[in-house]
Amino acid sequence: MNDFRLKYSEYMQWAKENAHITYNLAASGLMNYPEPIFNPSKQIIEISGDDHYGYAPLVDAIADKYKISTEMVFTTIGSSMANYITMALLIDTGDDIIIEHPTYELLISTAKNLGANVIYLPRPVENQYLINPDDLKSCITQNTKLVILTNLHNPSSALTDNETLKEIGKIAKKVGAYVLIDEVYLDSAFSNSVNSSIHTSDNFIVTSSLTKVYGLSGLRCGWTLAQPDVIKQLWRLSDLMYVKHALPAEILSVNAFSKLDKIKQWAKLILEKNRIELKEFFKNQEDLEVDIFDYGMTVFPKLKNIGVDQLNTTLIKKYDTIIAPGRFFGMPDHLRIGYGNDPEKFREGLHRLGEAISKTRK
Ligand SMILES: Cc1ncc(COP(=O)(O)O)c(C=O)c1O
Repeated sequence: MNDFRLKYSEYMQWAKENAHITYNLAASGLMNYPEPIFNPSKQIIEISGDDHYGYAPLVDAIADKYKISTEMVFTTIGSSMANYITMALLIDTGDDIIIEHPTYELLISTAKNLGANVIYLPRPVENQYLINPDDLKSCITQNTKLVILTNLHNPSSALTDNETLKEIGKIAKKVGAYVLIDEVYLDSAFSNSVNSSIHTSDNFIVTSSLTKVYGLSGLRCGWTLAQPDVIKQLWRLSDLMYVKHALPAEILSVNAFSKLDKIKQWAKLILEKNRIELKEFFKNQEDLEVDIFDYGMTVFPKLKNIGVDQLNTTLIKKYDTIIAPGRFFGMPDHLRIGYGNDPEKFREGLHRLGEAISKTRK
């Protein structure tokens, strides 16, 4: 076998194999949306139709959400596939790609799968994980093809403001690079003043989905937004991977879009409730060090005095609880807690985490 290109993700395998754990503080998304998103007795779901290059009502709904033209929308299977196909289009073997550090492991493993030479852009914990455009100037070269960021930031939830994004766009443009911004958590900022970066610069490409903020992971509804020339190429590249999407999932996704404001309110309430719980929890945790933002759905504390893997082994074996170890994000002394879970379960999960920390420390 040729080992030059990475052909797996340590993190994804770990996350899937541990998904059954009852108090899952490792998951980053909202709990499943509880109400049926359509009424089966009123609606007949078609099995197939003409959705080869996008199911028009779904493409319309996404374009409408972002106030962009339908030529700027490519629909995918979750943001995972959006990231994969978009990176596969833009990366050739040996290309220099800049990726924020720390970040979501899949972004790095996907770039390595495509044979990229990965260069890291620091998001320092001391600077609350904010990006300093001067750091990008220091690591970008004429060979850089793509800069990859998450906004909100996974794992910390830090928000990159529009001024910084504009600056990043300009720096990348000077060397002819695109900027891929994974916005799968952006809507958990719940603010009208936070807009998608698709409007910021024409070398920006945005990926997102309904999976994380809206508790609709099962629909696998994701998308890439970009200038029409890029979108055309994405549709062509997708011909190599599959014939079309599952139409029933696309129809249900359109229904979900028609109720998105309601679903968003539901998500907001859960996250606000759990954030209060989280802040209380951290007040009593001397071994955990973190700044909690008033938006987002994950936090990334530093764990002092105890090894993160040691803690997680105890959590899994004795407490039926799990956190995401920081090693998957390139920071082994940190851990990520997702707080989109059912509030009852979340409170109990935090309680168990506190117990495990105090027992492991002794
Ligand atoms: C930054 C980021 N992008 C994409 C994904 C995958 O999202 P989806 O479920 O839409 O494929 C995740 C999942 O954790 C993520 O954290």
